[in-house]
Amino acid sequence: MPSLQAFAGFAALIGGAHAIGQMSCVSFESSSSAFPVVSSGQAAPVYFSSDDWLGVQLAATNFATDIERVTGQKPALHNVTSLTSAVQSGSKPIIIGTLGQSPLIDQIVNSTNLDVSSIDGQWEAFMTQVVANPLPGVDSAYVMIGADKRGTIYALYDHSEQFGVSPWYWWADVPTKQHSELFVAATGCAHGSPTVKYRGIFLNDEQPALQNWAMEKFSNGTGAYYTGSPFNSEFYTTLFELMLRFKANYLWPAMWSSAFAVDDPLNQHYADMYGIVMGTSHEEPIMRSTPVEWDIFGSGPWDYSVNRQNIYDFWVVGAERGKPYENIYSVGMRGAGDLPMSPTTNVALLQQVIGDQRQLLSDVNNGTNITTIPQMWCLYQEVLAYYEEGLQVPDDVTLLWADDLFGNIERFPLYNERNRSGGAGVYYHYDLVGAMRDYKWITSSQMTKTFDQMSLAVDRDAVRIWILNVGDLKPYEMQTEFFITYGWNSSIWTPDNLNTFVSTWAQREFALSESDSGTIADIIANVSRYNSRRKPEMLNGTTYSLTNYREAEIMLEEWNTVLESSTAIYNTVSLAMKPAFFQLVQHPVEASHTVATMWIYAGINNLYASQARVSANDYATQVQSLFQKDYDLELEYHTILDGKWDHMMDQTHIMYYYWQQPMQDTMPFVTWVQSRKSSIAGVMRIVPEKSLGAWPGDNMNDCAQGYSCPNPTMTFDPYVPFQNSYVDVGAGGPIPFDFTVTSNASWLEFSVTAGSISLLAPEQRVYISVNDWSQVTGAETAVINFNATAQGQPLLNVPITFIANHTVPSEGFSGFVEGDGVISIEAAHTTSNTSVAGISWIELPGYGRTLSGITPWPRMADNGTNFTAGAGPHVEYDFYNFNTIGQAGNITITTYVAPSLNANGDDRPIAFAIQVDSETPQTEYFIPPAAPGELPDAWNGMDGFAATNIVPVVTNFTAYPGAHILKIWMVEPAVIVEKIVIDTGGLVPSYLGPPESMTV
Ligand SMILES: *[C@@H]1O[C@H](CO)[C@@H](O)[C@H](O)[C@H]1NC(C)=O
Repeated sequence: MPSLQAFAGFAALIGGAHAIGQMSCVSFESSSSAFPVVSSGQAAPVYFSSDDWLGVQLAATNFATDIERVTGQKPALHNVTSLTSAVQSGSKPIIIGTLGQSPLIDQIVNSTNLDVSSIDGQWEAFMTQVVANPLPGVDSAYVMIGADKRGTIYALYDHSEQFGVSPWYWWADVPTKQHSELFVAATGCAHGSPTVKYRGIFLNDEQPALQNWAMEKFSNGTGAYYTGSPFNSEFYTTLFELMLRFKANYLWPAMWSSAFAVDDPLNQHYADMYGIVMGTSHEEPIMRSTPVEWDIFGSGPWDYSVNRQNIYDFWVVGAERGKPYENIYSVGMRGAGDLPMSPTTNVALLQQVIGDQRQLLSDVNNGTNITTIPQMWCLYQEVLAYYEEGLQVPDDVTLLWADDLFGNIERFPLYNERNRSGGAGVYYHYDLVGAMRDYKWITSSQMTKTFDQMSLAVDRDAVRIWILNVGDLKPYEMQTEFFITYGWNSSIWTPDNLNTFVSTWAQREFALSESDSGTIADIIANVSRYNSRRKPEMLNGTTYSLTNYREAEIMLEEWNTVLESSTAIYNTVSLAMKPAFFQLVQHPVEASHTVATMWIYAGINNLYASQARVSANDYATQVQSLFQKDYDLELEYHTILDGKWDHMMDQTHIMYYYWQQPMQDTMPFVTWVQSRKSSIAGVMRIVPEKSLGAWPGDNMNDCAQGYSCPNPTMTFDPYVPFQNSYVDVGAGGPIPFDFTVTSNASWLEFSVTAGSISLLAPEQRVYISVNDWSQVTGAETAVINFNATAQGQPLLNVPITFIANHTVPSEGFSGFVEGDGVISIEAAHTTSNTSVAGISWIELPGYGRTLSGITPWPRMADNGTNFTAGAGPHVEYDFYNFNTIGQAGNITITTYVAPSLNANGDDRPIAFAIQVDSETPQTEYFIPPAAPGELPDAWNGMDGFAATNIVPVVTNFTAYPGAHILKIWMVEPAVIVEKIVIDTGGLVPSYLGPPESMTV
């Protein structure tokens, strides 16, 4: 792709036109060098040749309509059939066409000697510019030239987008920004061949939402004759236009109960006419929907070892049917229902399958050299195992590498696999039907993660095909556009400018100010971060710790913050803008907030009930109302714009009983505390921070024995990140009471020292802090008394032993300090960073579960080299501990690493090394080995690496109390470290690990 670099500049926006990752050549004000598209109420006429591709003619027609959408002026559109007197003399036209296909363009190139060498012969390249004296009698024209069909189409839609017509104007109701004047720069816009040749989406998992919606909108309730599918050519042409507008070119159609070529015989024809390359999914060979078409038209078992002739003939039909069109044929075979073929399947049979498929493709295409027919084989699960075990794949077949279904690509081409003429590609998921749990409801994939994984694909030359499983398309609009835009031109995106994709997108879609657009970028980053910590479908009431590190509470606050900032902008956008903003931002935020909050409240309800706190009932009520709000939001989505998106949010998403979607949303379990009866333990419940138990009375969490337990003890030191601790005072029943908090230590401070509790105000939180550490020497013990008085009741007293430990790091130390028995460090907060051979650890801002990730960069430096532990680039962290585990001199370090697989192959498993002080560095190969085509056991399950989106790597070191240096060394590229937690004896369980420690 030699010409790509020439156009790689991330051009500044001019004249307020918004285009994402494109050269900018549109303005809304006149200037000496600007060519008028519309000025003083006059629109430049638009010309194309009747000999040009029909897809180009169609896009040119849409282009003229787009100009009218923006300016209200409809350009005269000329379909030129003869070159003589083609263009009206004296006019200043826009002339559109494809090199070698448009006589109009070819004549201009010939007669003006226009230099088209930068695009000639380049896949999907285009250039536009003002040309002087292009044709007899014409002084100047704005000429838009594509190197091929899609090159021209992309030139047009690229301009439309800059004019103010969002690719999503119909699919997400983004209003067109109006301008009365419209200009293009004389120098125009240009783009070379894209990074990725085939950039596609897969409408998988189309039920229930997309299918129910399309049934209502496109098929009057009756679907196709054979399948009942609503996905007819009216639906698909609407989709094709959208795809071309955001520069996709490749589609795997809906296939669970549809058969693209059968459901509407015009589907294939229109795809090709519009300019979309059709494929079929990894399990559907030779352009036939499988198993849907096989079940209707096939005979005998779907088993090549016993039913070869019938299956062969079935595929011949697919090849014949696809012959006139641009396709990529899936080759190979899986068993029925996207499952492995029979256990007796062997490599020899698959070799026969693929040999036969290539023979029939060549035969049907009149003996065409098979290496010129695009074919793809997806190395998915068992097929990957066969491949690793030696299955021969013809060199011209594109190998498609898949992710683990959760966005972690299993493997990339190795060095010896990079020179295949068919190249390699990636099949990636934003949406899943499958184990360990479906996720099809709402966006839960981080853009930073997509960037990490797909930039690896670029680095390792898997750029022939990228296909994204988008489920039912909405609501992954922006994320999908990013995936495709990155494949269009990866060279302009870096870890540091990724967020400008979102802010520019927000400006384009909602015409927001720069600062509001920045806020939108934060909102999107946060929503996808929170939803990817653990997918909403996998949440339960105790995902986030209800007792430790205020984890659930902080999660609630974070959700509230993101909802508040989204709502604030939603309230200010114009009425015309609201439907788009709702679909693209507000709904995902509010719906995610609702479900996440509901699960945490359900967990609190259960916990508080076990502690005999009547406030549990308030949480039960909240869960009920959030469960209803969830459906209200769905209804709102379905009713905006007079029901345009009815059914689009039909996806069930609450309470899974196994991996598959539930047939109905069901509310999380809640329980009720009898609020009309007194607790047998007394009126007052006392629950200190970090405790699952409650006092007075019995509770299995108060002590091991569960009865006659000692009163609670709390510990505290100056480096507890929250700088305080708390005790909850709650009602155990209906009797109101007054309480007081007193202590025998002058250095203790309480947020409240007295209060009243009743059914109307059943809880009060008392924060405790140390107001003067100078009064505390070493560990000092105080007693805090919680006393309750209630009418007709004996005085109730719960004494808490409070141990304050005045820890002091040595003079001159600077770094992270132990608090509460742990040291927690965000990986990006290094004290030093040493590069070797031009490689250093850089931050991937916004990546991962908490703050960001760090990774050795550039990844392909020195051909993707690796290092032995202690030799490569490394980062350091200074920390100070006061304790060790069991005070025996040891610490345990958990390094939280992104779940990246051994994508460099088994010979180069992903790794890093970790060292404390001058101890020997420990090299950690943190992805356990697995059988070919399988994932390690630790990957799977609801607590596995994929579900938790993290790999905790545990190492042990000796580190006596004092100052230490922790070092992380590069061993292999592509490792991403997010967070480091050092346990000095006080670590307690949580989902994300303790909050970051204090520094001095
Ligand atoms: C342009 O003219 C040709 C020939 O008459 C016709 O086939 C084609 O449909 C026209 N294109 C458009 C977009 O109207």
